[in-house]
This record gives sequence, structure tokens and C-alpha cells, in this order.
Amino acid sequence: MKDFEISEHSAHRHDDDVCTNDSNNPTLQSMVDARLSRREVLVGGLGAAAAFTAGSAGMLASPDAKALPAGFSLSFNPVAKNLADTVTVPPGYSVTVLTPTGEALTSSTPAYVGDGSETGDSYAFRAGDHHDGMYYFGLSSDGTRPDPRNSRRGLLCINHENITQPFLHANGATVVGGVRPVADEVIKEMNAHGVSIVELVPGPSRSNPVAFNRGSRYNRRITSLTDVILSGPVAGDPQVVTRYSPNGTRTRGTVNNCANGFTPWGTYLTCEENWAFYFRRAAGDNANRSAAEVTALNRYSIPAGAAGNYGWTTVVPSDPSDTRFSRWDATVTGATPADDFRNAPNTFGWVVEIDPYDPQSTPRKRTAMARFFREGAWPANFVPGRPVVFYQGCDSRNEYIYKFVSSARLDPRDLARPDRLAVGDKYLDSGTVYVARFDASGTGTWIPLIFGINGLDPNNAIYPFSSQADVLIHARLAADAVGATKMDRPEWAAVNRVNGEVYFTLTNNSTRGTTGPAVDAANPRSYADQKGAATQRGNVNGHIIRFREDGNNSSATSFRWDIFGFGAQADADPANVNVSGLTDVNDFSSPDGLWFGRETNDSNGLLWIQTDDGAYTDVTNCMLLAAVPGRVGDGGTVTINGVQTPVGAKATESRLRRFLVGPKGAEITGLDSTPDGRVLFVNIQHPGENTPASQIGSPELYESHFPGGGLSRPRSATLAIVKDDFGIVGL
Ligand code: FEO
Ligand code: CA
Ligand code: CA
Repeated sequence: MKDFEISEHSAHRHDDDVCTNDSNNPTLQSMVDARLSRREVLVGGLGAAAAFTAGSAGMLASPDAKALPAGFSLSFNPVAKNLADTVTVPPGYSVTVLTPTGEALTSSTPAYVGDGSETGDSYAFRAGDHHDGMYYFGLSSDGTRPDPRNSRRGLLCINHENITQPFLHANGATVVGGVRPVADEVIKEMNAHGVSIVELVPGPSRSNPVAFNRGSRYNRRITSLTDVILSGPVAGDPQVVTRYSPNGTRTRGTVNNCANGFTPWGTYLTCEENWAFYFRRAAGDNANRSAAEVTALNRYSIPAGAAGNYGWTTVVPSDPSDTRFSRWDATVTGATPADDFRNAPNTFGWVVEIDPYDPQSTPRKRTAMARFFREGAWPANFVPGRPVVFYQGCDSRNEYIYKFVSSARLDPRDLARPDRLAVGDKYLDSGTVYVARFDASGTGTWIPLIFGINGLDPNNAIYPFSSQADVLIHARLAADAVGATKMDRPEWAAVNRVNGEVYFTLTNNSTRGTTGPAVDAANPRSYADQKGAATQRGNVNGHIIRFREDGNNSSATSFRWDIFGFGAQADADPANVNVSGLTDVNDFSSPDGLWFGRETNDSNGLLWIQTDDGAYTDVTNCMLLAAVPGRVGDGGTVTINGVQTPVGAKATESRLRRFLVGPKGAEITGLDSTPDGRVLFVNIQHPGENTPASQIGSPELYESHFPGGGLSRPRSATLAIVKDDFGIVGL
């Protein structure tokens, strides 16, 4: 979602407008004088990265991940910054639009009309809104079984993070006296969240090589109303008992599905980011809560008096036993937790595992991986005989970077099993969650979040932890307690398949060095930037941090890090703001989506960067860039306003350039390709979202008409991008 600026007309709270981290964790201010040893950063080359990498879901590929040749340069013509209401790509590339919001996913669903007249129930069979993280799973040519290497037929899993509410309804949302009187509108909004699974088949031409198969038996929606199993250590815990599941083993739906992940056994991971803002809690509810509960609810942004996004709880259902609306009210109203939804918030914030190949399967929330405002879950390279490891960020200001290390070690025989979610039980229901501390020296430590260790016990001054399930449910509080480093909003991660190095976007932080923590080595910038007459402060444009695990072992408890690059406008102060030396062909702001090319094709060494910006949008719409990544420590150190920090080599125009600029009001997010790298999938999220609800009915005033053009309503959508010679995209 667009998260830097809060539009006055927004009906919901964005992730950047609340900061609940009041912990005293080190900001490294005390260490700004520490001297980084250049030698420490530069020695210890990678050697042979002996990791086997997953070919794509379901396979282990050769150990020889293909690196770009030394001195490789990007060859496509960079796209200029622009404010056009279209998708701009380099000459020699074509764009096809797939499954935009509202598209009918089954043959029996009425075609999308585009006037908001589609019913709420029909959205359980239509593409949802706000396309976000995604992953392509290959199918065999006859469509009967997984074939991870097949680029011509496959299943695309697409997250639907949120909604642009006014465009979903004929005249915008109906609200009377603060109440939503039209239940069908709210059902539509719930169904427009979640995940789509859509089958892609060969398209009509080389410039249009994939097409959506509306009749596929695999096409499926998972929404905020779908039954989901709670799996792992928190399942059955008293803190997840609800009226929906009195034994605490299930919950209803998934929401605010932002980024994603995948497993080598062929499942999709969808991740719950700003779920907390959907919950209402009555102003007086603290009186019915323990002190620990109040601490936890505040830390997870559900304070007493929270209204809940879109007023979903205000619907009065015709059937009093219908709890689809009241389940978003976390107020204590019943005699016991099994009589109300006080615990419903504890059933969100998780990784949700989905088997895309089995349309009848029930998704499972993987509680061993911990609960926060989870952006995604990105796998380290998969190595037989070692744990599986997922990197994950908590995207709010001053939150943390985490990783999950499975207890089970990867057995390649598991990867072709047909009971994929049972394989998930083996690897994702038991393990250790760590949180990162970044030290000024350029080293870092992973601190385990284990009940009874590091003060995570009933005597803890921040929160009285009662069990490992309690630590997992309240991972933010556990991370506060162990001294993790507060970061500038961790968004996506990406793992370099060639050398295992891990990149994280830190999208921006308006509180850094202003009302929040001081700058530190890992979050070293705080400055003023002009946007028209407005002065923006803090880390306005964001940066990208990266690290290499010690021993090139993703289970290691220590790492080395540097800052790959800093977002900035090209004409900003080169010493303290445009530290990476960006120019007009590659300047960007608010990096968000991040992806390395698939390891099964020659583009695996390219890093792709997407933006979700509100700071530089006076100059350009959001964008996608491609980069040649280098490696940790290849740039030495810089000193920014007195703070010394390790950095990557400066960007050059041949190694970082803009590949795409999106339409008006949209963020660019979600990225994958076919395994052969010849079709790149990119999501356009919320074009036209700055259109005031009052302008519905005046289509000439809509901020965007993408993708339909004319006077049509804007729709989120997936792009399929190909090179005219059907070569690998980006090379
Ligand atoms: Fe959904 Fe953190 O962006
Ligand atoms: Ca500016
Ligand atoms: Ca995002």
C-alpha cells in the first residue's frame, strides 16, 4: 500500500502512521565513534558458495548458480522519470495485463462490468484488489501435476493486500451515521482481500506469451472469510480461543496480504502485514483486560478505542448468528474467550502456507514463525541436510528484521511428496525465531527468541512472558526485550542465489532523527527534503541494507552487513543524502519490493527494486529498477553527518537503471518470472488511489484510468512483460 503519506480521505490507517515501539533498544548512538575496520569488511571472500539452490518450487537445482560475468552492464535503455498515467518500459519490451481487480476467475462468474455493480459474494470468484506479492508455480504441460521447470503453463499466486474502497462500489461506500448499512458492500471488501490462484497457459503470440485460463480447476480465491488452520506451537493456546474456534485451532481468513514467500516443496507463503488496523476495540475495553494484555494490544496497534478499517464491525447482520462482521471486534463482550472475539487479533500476523496445486486444501497459519506486522517470508538458499531458513521483516517504523530456522533438516525426498502441507508441518511448525542486531562495526548478531532465555520469562519488565507460544504471539515485545535494532521500516527481502547474501529494503522513516530514534550506523540518514512547499524530514527516501551470514551458513548467529544503496533524488546533497551517487537514470525513493531473478536462468544475478513512494511523486510515479548487485563490503565506508557506516560500491548508470515507471497513484510491487526468465510478472497496485470518494461518478476526475483507459475505473493488475526477441528480461 502507499504508505509514506496519509491521504486525508483515507478510510483506513496506513502502516506509517503509528509507531508503538517505545523500547529502549540501542540505536547505536553510543557507538557512532566506533571505527570500522576496512580490512574486516573486505577480507573473507565468499569462496565457492556451495549451496544447492532450489530450481523453483519442488526441485533442487545444480550447485552452480549462474553468476553474471564480471563487469556485466545493463543494456536496456533506462526509462525516464515521468508522471504519465501508463506503464512505461524500455524500447523492445511489451506489456500484457492479466487478471485485473474484479476479473471473473471462473466460467460461471459474470464478466466484470466496471461500474461497482458486482456483488459481494461474486468477489469470492473474482480477482481481488491491490495485487501485491506473487509467485509462479509451474504445471506439467497437460496440467495434471507440478512441474516447477515449466515456463509455459503454471499457477500464479497473487496477494491482494488491501482495497481502494470507492471504486469497488457503485457510488463509493455507503455510510450512514458512521454505520455500514449495506452488508453486501462489506462482504465485497472482505472478499477483495486475500490471495488469488490463477492458471496461466500459452498466449496467442510471442509478444503475448501467457494467457489466463478462466476455466481452470486450479483457479481459486482465499479471502478474509476462508477457513484456515492454526498450526504449530500456538495452535490450541488459550490466547487464540475464539467464538469461531473454541479450541483455538482455526481462524477465519487472512487479511492485508502484503509480500510472500515460497517453499521448495511447492507451496506458497502469504504474509499478513497491517492486519491490526482492521480490528475495532471499544474505548472502555482496557478495564476488562489484564495489564499484560493491554501492553500487548498497544504494542500491536490495537489500543482501546480503535475504530477498525472501513467500519466492518458496524454491519448489523440479518442473521444474529452471523459473526462475519463482529469477528473484527476485539472488545470483551462475552463471558469467556469462546463467547466473543477478544482473541481474534492473535490469529493474525502470521505466515500462511497455501498448497496451490490442491484447490480443496485448507491453508495453515505457521505460528512457529512468530507474529508481527509481517511483510514477507523469503527463503535462504535451500541446502540438503541443513535447516530451511526464512528472512522476514516487520514493516512499521522502528521495527525489526527476523529470521526463522527450522528444527528439521532438509531431506530432498520430501520435495516431491504430494502431501505438501504435511511437509510444511515438518519444516514450518518447529524451529527458532531470531531477531537482528546491527552493530556499528559492520557485524551483526541474531538473537534467539526462546522462552526462558535472554530474560523472556514471567519476570521480564517489558512483558511477563508465560510460554513459548506467548513469545511467538508477542514477538515484537520479545524483540524489544532482547535489544534488537530498530530499523527504518523493513519491507521486502531478497536472497542472492549466487552467493546467499540477503538484501532488505528499509523503505523510509519519518521519525528517524526527528521524533523517534537517533540515527545509527544501519539507519544513518535523517535530513530535510522539499516536496513542493512541504518539508519532509527523517529518512525520507529509504535505503537497502544487505548482509552475509558468517560461514555463508544461513543458520549462523552472526553476519556482516553494509548498505547497498540509499534512495535519494539525483540533485540532493551528495555527502549526506544522495550518498550512492544516483543520477536521473536511476534515482528512486522508498524502495519496497525486492527480488533476485530466478536461479534457473541467466538473470539470476540481477537485483530488481520496486518503489512505493509518496516523497518523490511530485517528480515521478513509482518505478522498477534493475541492479547488478556486487557483494557485501565492496564499497568501503562513508561518514554521513558524523555517522560512519559500511556501504556498497556507488551506483553507476550501467549497473543500476530504471526499467519501468507505473501509472498515476500506483505503487509497483510483487515480482516474479517464469522459470526461464522470459516473462517477468510485475504488479500494479492501487492506480488512482488518491481519487477522493466524492469524485466517484465523475470519471473524468479519476486520478488514473489504468489499465482500461478512457473513462474506466482504475484497477490493480498483474503485468506480464516480455522482450520482443523473447530473450531473458533485463539482460
Ligand atoms: Fe505492504 Fe510493507 O508494504
Ligand atoms: Ca523532493
Ligand atoms: Ca510493501
